[in-house]
Amino acid sequence: MELRRFGFEQCGSVLLLVSGLLLLPVMVSSIGVNYGQIANNLPAPENVIPLVKAIGATKVKLYDASPKVLRAFSNTSVEFIVGLGNEYLAKMKNPACAQEWVKNNVQAYLPGTKITSIFVGNEVLTFNDTSLSANLLPAMQSVHTALVNLGLDKQVAVTTAHSLAVLETSYPPSAGVFRRDLVDCLVPILDFHVKIGSPFLINAYPYFAYKANPKQVSLDFVLFQPNQGILDPGSNLHYENMLFAQIDAVYYALAAVGYKKLPVHISETGWPSKGDEDEAGATPENAKKYNGNLLKFICQKKGTPLRPSSDLNIYVFALFNENMKPGPTSERNYGLFKPDGTPVYQLGFSINDAVGNGTHGTSGTSDVQPTPPGFPTTSNGYLSISSAKERSHCLGFFLVCLYLMLFKLLL
Ligand SMILES: *[C@@H]1O[C@H](CO)[C@@H](O)[C@H](O)[C@H]1NC(C)=O
Ligand SMILES: *[C@@H]1O[C@H](CO)[C@@H](O)[C@H](O)[C@H]1NC(C)=O
Ligand SMILES: *[C@@H]1O[C@H](CO)[C@@H](O)[C@H](O)[C@H]1NC(C)=O
Repeated sequence: MELRRFGFEQCGSVLLLVSGLLLLPVMVSSIGVNYGQIANNLPAPENVIPLVKAIGATKVKLYDASPKVLRAFSNTSVEFIVGLGNEYLAKMKNPACAQEWVKNNVQAYLPGTKITSIFVGNEVLTFNDTSLSANLLPAMQSVHTALVNLGLDKQVAVTTAHSLAVLETSYPPSAGVFRRDLVDCLVPILDFHVKIGSPFLINAYPYFAYKANPKQVSLDFVLFQPNQGILDPGSNLHYENMLFAQIDAVYYALAAVGYKKLPVHISETGWPSKGDEDEAGATPENAKKYNGNLLKFICQKKGTPLRPSSDLNIYVFALFNENMKPGPTSERNYGLFKPDGTPVYQLGFSINDAVGNGTHGTSGTSDVQPTPPGFPTTSNGYLSISSAKERSHCLGFFLVCLYLMLFKLLL
């Protein structure tokens, strides 16, 4: 359909431009996926490997350091970010505990399983729990020191993941600033990132902004569909989708406290395929558009308007629907896959989907109508986000395109 056609043409022309496969590793961006496991019906990790590969993901983010998963993925090329849960932060201030944790949960699986990063704490600062927040940096430091002691600090980075709600203002992006009450706590963490060379991670959900304000937020703008976009009057940059606006708001907030060069990675983003009656937009069609278009952008190596030449480092949330997550229905329906391993919806570019149907039709103009966006321009307007709880790489995609191109050439 539309996505397939688009992907084919884009990849085809990129491929022709570089004329050959030599540049392949340089061109291929990598897709990450969150492997959340708050469920009692998920498949055995061995059976998850093909699912990760099917969506073309090369990076997986875990919320813990699940031994079964880390063992199952050994000798695969999949890279892992493992998580150290908020409940461990207080304990990790003790260097001996941190060293024990790193030994048992990271070193034990290296080098067979490619653990490249540890994220210490998830959305800690937006819990507004001052003692938890106070433990964050010491825990990150202890874990890093443990890695140094074990000779692993060059291969394993230490970071933490924040909710977008760490921003006080996120619209327009050029006005992005951190919550004032968090700055004192954040700045030493940013220093730490600079010192050890690790990225700033943010969980960003345009869905929350849409859900909070479905009448005012343009669905096409949040779903990466064709639309007029918005002009940021502060920077004169033009935004065609909300996620890029959110990412740039983070870059601006970092610059505002003196950390202009810190790279930002998106540790979670996604769209639910189902929700409660009051959760506007949570449908399989919208989830397919959001995630399908997002993966397409990652593959095209599109940067944001402010950082056009930086790769999008994005982890889609999530691999599976998780039946034991609390909260509204949407929380249990972010998955690309059902627990039985079947797709919740077709993403539009899986190998089977792409080669199983030779129709490269040109229909589908119906969703190319630009919708005039009516965005409120208050400082904390449509981009403000409620805090989220826990919330492939283009090689696969690229190979599909290559396959299709060869297929076409042969015909
Ligand atoms: C990975 O390779 C090692 C060494 O060859 C082997 O001991 C281990 O069982 C393999 N793991 C898996 C999951 O295949
Ligand atoms: C944390 O504090 C901020 C600012 O005071 C507030 O907007 C937010 O709702 C609070 N979050 C939680 C989870 O209590
Ligand atoms: C191919 O895709 C078109 C458009 O989605 C669909 O109508 C048709 O049934 C598909 N054909 C096959 C063989 O799957």
